[in-house]
Amino acid sequence: MNIVFHESCRTFHLYNDQISYILTVLPNGQLGQLYFGKAVRDRDDFSFLLETCSRPMASCVFDTDKKFSLEHIKQEYAVFGTTDFRSPAVEVVQENGSRISDFQYQTYRILPGKPGLEGLPATYTESDDEARTLIVTVKDPVTGLAAELLYTIFAEKGILSRSVRFINQGEETLHLTTAMSLCMDLPDSNYEWIQFSGAWARERYPKKRILEQGIQSVGSLRGHSSHNHNPFVILKRPTADEFQGEVIGFSLIYSGNFLIQAEVDTYNTTRILAGIHPSGFDWKLEKEQVFQTPEAVMVYSDRGMNEMSQTFHRLYQKRLARGYWRDRERPILINNWEATYFDFTEERLLKIAEKAKESGIELFVLDDGWFGERSSEHAGLGDWTANRNRLPEGIAGIAEKINKIGMKFGLWFEPEMVNRDSDLFRRHPDWILSAPDRRSSQGRFQYVLDFSRKEVVDCIYEMMADILSHAEISYVKWDMNRSITECYSAALPADRQGEVYHRYILGVYDLYERLTGRFPEVLFESCASGGGRFDPGMLYYAPQAWTSDDTDAVERVKIQYGSSYCYPVSSMGSHVSVSPNHQLNRSTPLSTRANVAYFGTFGYELDLNKLSGREQKEVKAQVAFMKQYRKLIQFGTFYRLLSPFENNRSAWMVVSPDKKQALVGCYRTLSETNAPYTRLLLKGLDEGTRYCIEGDSNTHYGDELMNIGLITSDASCGEMAEADVPCRDFDSRLYILNAL
Ligand code: DGJ
Repeated sequence: MNIVFHESCRTFHLYNDQISYILTVLPNGQLGQLYFGKAVRDRDDFSFLLETCSRPMASCVFDTDKKFSLEHIKQEYAVFGTTDFRSPAVEVVQENGSRISDFQYQTYRILPGKPGLEGLPATYTESDDEARTLIVTVKDPVTGLAAELLYTIFAEKGILSRSVRFINQGEETLHLTTAMSLCMDLPDSNYEWIQFSGAWARERYPKKRILEQGIQSVGSLRGHSSHNHNPFVILKRPTADEFQGEVIGFSLIYSGNFLIQAEVDTYNTTRILAGIHPSGFDWKLEKEQVFQTPEAVMVYSDRGMNEMSQTFHRLYQKRLARGYWRDRERPILINNWEATYFDFTEERLLKIAEKAKESGIELFVLDDGWFGERSSEHAGLGDWTANRNRLPEGIAGIAEKINKIGMKFGLWFEPEMVNRDSDLFRRHPDWILSAPDRRSSQGRFQYVLDFSRKEVVDCIYEMMADILSHAEISYVKWDMNRSITECYSAALPADRQGEVYHRYILGVYDLYERLTGRFPEVLFESCASGGGRFDPGMLYYAPQAWTSDDTDAVERVKIQYGSSYCYPVSSMGSHVSVSPNHQLNRSTPLSTRANVAYFGTFGYELDLNKLSGREQKEVKAQVAFMKQYRKLIQFGTFYRLLSPFENNRSAWMVVSPDKKQALVGCYRTLSETNAPYTRLLLKGLDEGTRYCIEGDSNTHYGDELMNIGLITSDASCGEMAEADVPCRDFDSRLYILNAL
């Protein structure tokens, strides 16, 4: 890995074994983008990559140089208001109302490793040789606004991360109204765009389309990254697939309003922008003040989408997630939400826990309803003290009883919210986000606390820290169940209201930082009505997230498959729930529910007392199985093999780092009559190693399994079915491979 500056042509080249990133100082003093892709050898002069030519008519040029118009040049951090008419990376409003800027190259620095981003989640290094960082400073001569463009290249894999730090070095007060984390102009538009979109209970479905002239984007204006769109996009060559071809993934480490956009211009160049959504954003920057954008990460692979995903998985698992739980196998938990909803007593909870303990489950999680007057969605949020009618000896009492049963204890919070019917709201009605003279919209009968205010965050911190320090609590589920509306803070002046969405998220990060800092061994799981804030920003604080409120196994295959394009298995909260399922009323076999939930952090979301003796035995075996294989599953190399979005059958697998063990999960939605033969090509095995597959008397070499395939044919349906043979819809099978 290296970063070089070629003085003669004022060009920077960042490269490692896999990628090159080249940028240059343009003749007008701004920065231009020359290349991002597969590694090329370094050379003294890359200036031939700067294509300029005189375009006919309608081009506005720099000075009198007919060949130089920003409109026709690939830029590094595009500005608004001069000769480029595409969407800018930055927009600044001066006191006189002008929005024009011109960021001129000043200087650069190269640092070993990677600096942290103050107040924001970011990838990190553990030693200086893991990465190098280039900081290029540009400055607008009129306003004095400087921008430090940060580029970190990691020693391994095709990873390049970017962010921008603005410093107002001028005399006047400025307003940043666009401040993207990443801007990159690619030289062509021969790409397919894949976004990960959906809704509550069907999050992160991949949606693909061809890039066309014009703008396509995903984003959120809901105050959280959202169920609807994820801050992650892939550009892939049309011929690229899971295993070959050029792919670039763009991921934003941020949990609030975001935008990722591709703009294809007249000449088929593609501008990618990623950052805080400019809509509603307006950050006042007084003299000497600083604004730091979130970090955006680009991963390039010329070996298809699986390799790109594996790079994200490793990066986010090892150098974004932090702390005690980062590398640890996750506890198998039982959560009472779908078992009881609000209808529980301590006695009932203990019965659930006792049965779970018999099955080998390690952690009991008490979900919503344990605090204040919370007996339904209508009251209690904000009052983080135990409801003594339900829990006579408080949280410390129930935690102790659960510990006595032999399990760890975990607790649900929704720190950012308040019900109108709560003591907190009665004490501080002005602590919610709400606009003067306007109605405050409720969502799930609750308001959003103004986390842009330190005193609000302090108060919630005190309440949570009090609970966590007076009871034996090993796990926290941090929920967030509504989007932000009427985003106005009573504590900020008129000209800072455009800061509230971002300040809110900074407040959330601050609370996470304080709690994870003070309780480092507590495992945090983030959640937002399921997967409404399933983003890399959260992973920095909470190494796992509740993937979706949809616990139906068939739906979960899709949701977990879609999530896997960016996020590691160890980050996906996944539980076995009852059948028929509560979201769809669909009945699925217990084995399939577990076979899907294994590929995540694994747990149960039901009352085991209500299962038959046979099912309880099966659960015991499932728990034992997960204990045996969770290291492989959560920390092995994950491959998508067959997509549930394209097939009735789907499959994925994990392989241990030494390739000695692998686990393949195969799922079939509907049973097939007189089904065709099927073989599944496995991946990531060692060609010359002989594997035995549990339940198969033959042994198979890795090359056979990867080139001929695993025979998965199932011709069991076709004749008139016997009366007692169950329907095989929603069937699944695991294959366990061990090297001989
Ligand atoms: C939404 C979460 O996704 C559920 O798992 C559960 O915790 C409920 N909130 C509780 O209100």
